[in-house]
Amino acid sequence: MSLVDEVKQRFIQEYGQPPAAIVRAPGRVNLIGEHTDYNDGFVLPMAIDRAACIALQPRRDNRVFVHSLDFDDRRVFALDELRRPSRTEWIDYMIGVAWALQERGYALRGWEGVLSADVPIGAGLSSSAALELVTARAFYEVSGFAWDAAGMAQAGRTAENEWLGIRTGIMDQMISAAGLADRALLIDCRSLETVSAPLPAGTAVVILDTGTRRGLVDSKYNQRREQCESAARHFGVPALRDVEAGAFERRASELEPAIRARARHVISENARALRARAAMDAGDAVALGQLMIASHNSLRDDFEVSSPALDAIVDCANADADCYGARMTGAGFGGCAVALARADGVEDFVARVRRCYVAATGHQPKLYITRATSGAETLYPAAI
Ligand code: GLA
Repeated sequence: MSLVDEVKQRFIQEYGQPPAAIVRAPGRVNLIGEHTDYNDGFVLPMAIDRAACIALQPRRDNRVFVHSLDFDDRRVFALDELRRPSRTEWIDYMIGVAWALQERGYALRGWEGVLSADVPIGAGLSSSAALELVTARAFYEVSGFAWDAAGMAQAGRTAENEWLGIRTGIMDQMISAAGLADRALLIDCRSLETVSAPLPAGTAVVILDTGTRRGLVDSKYNQRREQCESAARHFGVPALRDVEAGAFERRASELEPAIRARARHVISENARALRARAAMDAGDAVALGQLMIASHNSLRDDFEVSSPALDAIVDCANADADCYGARMTGAGFGGCAVALARADGVEDFVARVRRCYVAATGHQPKLYITRATSGAETLYPAAI
């Protein structure tokens, strides 16, 4: 049964009538532009066909009742009594969004409903952003404010950064809020302007989950952020986004080696993301694939956020004649890679990558052929 049918049927069982609305917000995979978002730079992600869905109806009071089918758990919170969590559970992402929306001046109303998601948790496919944005969309449905994708994404990020204390950039929330079917989005993470880019004809996007998860990702992520901030300070600019490649080369030797390498990654990755969007506009899968390969090498060698498992699965994919290019995606240190492959025969490509990766590492990967979908949306009743 589809996710939508599942939340709808459970809603009918529990409330004895159809929901007033079903809302959905997707996870994401980033094609290129990695570790650039918190440097005010460019990212090129797409929303994927795995999402969080809520079937809901408004309440007359200001309370929110949520039944999570995945956690087999029911929670309730009141909009005027939001409590900060001592340890983070699924409901805290939703409470955090309610808090962040109210902080931004939105008047919220209560609702009740059933939640389920099929974005794998902890794989680096932004299950948290999906949960944040589906919550924002639920409030939008019952509260009668205008949908502003960038504002909703910022509320999601504020929930994560300030309510839950998890440092992330804006990429995941922006793409979950604003994604488009069959397209990736070039997002300027400073202005939050987006430009869409079509997936090249005849290609398929494949998510390659290494099946490995690394500890201490948060502290390593924060350390990379601090190194980038220190490089920006050295150049006297607000963020590495403001450093041109030429200016960097002229002064690179002033930086200590680790900081220099981090900055080199960010500056070159921003340029690659812009070129990738141009390649997509031109329908040039070969050029896009080459940029993805260069991105991986830079993340592995300069930013040092890859892992042996990620390198192995990327090497397996890149060695395949049906692959245009593959790279690690997301924060790194384990989790997923992404490959751009020929659509024709993509199932065989997936089978070959699986065999190659198992032989090289002994880990069992999860491989998903995915497609670009719409960002946060109302599925039922159909949006007018
Ligand atoms: C995580 C963060 C994003 C981004 C990526 C790296 O997914 O949530 O904001 O920084 O890492 O590109």
